[in-house]
Amino acid sequence: MKARIYYFTGTGNSMRAARVIAGKLGDTEIVSMRADPKDYPVTDCEIVGFVFPVYHWTMPAPAVSFVEKLEISPNAYVFAIAMPSFICGKACEKLAEILDKKGISLNYGNIVNSVANYVIVYPPFPSPRLRVPRTEKKLRIIAEDIFEKRNRDYPRASSFIRRRSERFMTPYLELQKYADNPFTISKDCISCGMCTRVCPCHNIVLEGGKPTFQHHCANCMACVVSCPKRAIGYDITAGDRKLLDASNSRTGLVKIMGLPPKRKLYRNPYITVNDLTKESEICPKEVKQEK
Ligand SMILES: Cc1cc2nc3c(=O)[nH]c(=O)nc-3n(C[C@H](O)[C@H](O)[C@H](O)COP(=O)(O)O)c2cc1C
Ligand code: SF4
Ligand code: SF4
Repeated sequence: MKARIYYFTGTGNSMRAARVIAGKLGDTEIVSMRADPKDYPVTDCEIVGFVFPVYHWTMPAPAVSFVEKLEISPNAYVFAIAMPSFICGKACEKLAEILDKKGISLNYGNIVNSVANYVIVYPPFPSPRLRVPRTEKKLRIIAEDIFEKRNRDYPRASSFIRRRSERFMTPYLELQKYADNPFTISKDCISCGMCTRVCPCHNIVLEGGKPTFQHHCANCMACVVSCPKRAIGYDITAGDRKLLDASNSRTGLVKIMGLPPKRKLYRNPYITVNDLTKESEICPKEVKQEK
């Protein structure tokens, strides 16, 4: 196989990016970081890539742990694409640091601004109608770069973000252990199990037909946006005293987390709910450009 691209995704932006790049390269397998890294070591690939969203100005914790466990040989051309909405922060630096410990250097790093998907905090923005075509355009430029094996230094956090990240983002990262406590399941749930299948963290199990959360949630939003009955809510006040107590002392922003019933949801328009359940796929040579 020519290339392998590992992606972490909640709402499909990163999977779409992996597919577009794979479509350009040809003979490429894309692998979700939901998989066990032991099943997908890098041995003879000529090109290896990592694509992931940005969470709280850094790389999502499940993606960190996946790459830490990945066996990877130093011979490949290695690239990283971060998919933030606006602020990439230290995401690429974090990946570079993990790879560096394995004796691997990043040959290419870039950012693709995408639709912001944290729908328990805000409605998706900017408008997918405007943002998705721009994202697609940049993905094609990047795919060409990677096809040509160009070198590009990976993006670093600005000094402003670096100074502020400790104060603004550390509380959120600390609260991750409570991240799924406020999830609610309404009576509309039909026990279809779709939420369990899309969760990239294997964090949901059906118990007596009811989804239950196992407390290793990344807040990726996959379950929320994939439920066919919109039965998954997020109610921080009913959900968790500990979370609120922590937020009161550390950051007021947590208090605005919640999911009003009419909040718009978002999933990348090129990615189906079924796609989100996949562990890996071999991508065809070209991915359709327009929808
Ligand atoms: C928990 C969480 C935290 C996020 N933090 C950031 C952030 O710090 N900076 C940013 O620009 N976007 C942030 N986002 C937005 C996502 O990075 C962005 O929407 C991404 O493209 C989603 O990728 P996906 O569709 O592959 O899951 C956050 C989203 C979530 C769910
Ligand atoms: S996806 Fe929705 S309807 Fe299906 S089991 Fe999960 S919460 Fe219930
Ligand atoms: S429980 Fe839902 S939000 Fe949490 S990691 Fe799984 S799919 Fe994502």
